[in-house]
Amino acid sequence: MNKFLLAPSIIASDFTHLADEIAAVESAGADWLHMDIMDGHFVPTITIGPLFVDACKRVTKLPIDVHLMISNPDQYLEVFAKAGASNITVHVETCDHLQQTIQKIKSLGCTAGVTLNPSTPASALDEVLPLVDLVLVMSVKPGYSGQSFMPDMISKVEEIRNKLNELRSTAFLEVDGGISAETLPLMRKAGADVFVAGNAIFKHPQGAGEGIKKLRNSFARSERY
Ligand code: DX5
Ligand code: ZN
Repeated sequence: MNKFLLAPSIIASDFTHLADEIAAVESAGADWLHMDIMDGHFVPTITIGPLFVDACKRVTKLPIDVHLMISNPDQYLEVFAKAGASNITVHVETCDHLQQTIQKIKSLGCTAGVTLNPSTPASALDEVLPLVDLVLVMSVKPGYSGQSFMPDMISKVEEIRNKLNELRSTAFLEVDGGISAETLPLMRKAGADVFVAGNAIFKHPQGAGEGIKKLRNSFARSERY
């Protein structure tokens, strides 16, 4: 129950010291690097693209977890796979043929994830749940780092955890948005096993390594209360 993965969200890091930021989280025991790709269309913000993924790939051994918040993701799957993505997650709201998109991601040698906006019901994933390697529950509206955690998403994680268990699926159940030492234990108890965190890690006053340690210890600590 104590084992879970941490995926620092790189858009909250200091890009002027990118390699150092990555080295800090890697040596502190981060499991994956999470990359938020935003197009200014599906979400209002524009962030990073494949060149950035490629640059990070060259300075880390950590698996790269690409979260596509872009319209028409099918058009860009290959370029992100080539840039070094280990996992590619697409939003159900952006895919007309979700099953085909998942198959395409797998055919490119990546694991395939699906995600959904807070306002999209868990049932939107029912058809593809048996096919995916990862389900990502957004606990903020996608678009920005540093937003407040939405407690309503705890029951969504529980619902999806139950469905995955019924299917005997080994897919990861990841959460993203407002994850902190306070909210991580709530989502862990609900059944999440991968935690994306931007601000809680990269904006930690003692540095990203300390941010990782604080999150890593938060669940064990909450169990003692
Ligand atoms: C939100 C992004 C998140 C975000 C997390 O659209 O998908 O990955 O960077 O940042 P925090 O942990 O600061 O909420
Ligand atoms: Zn994300």
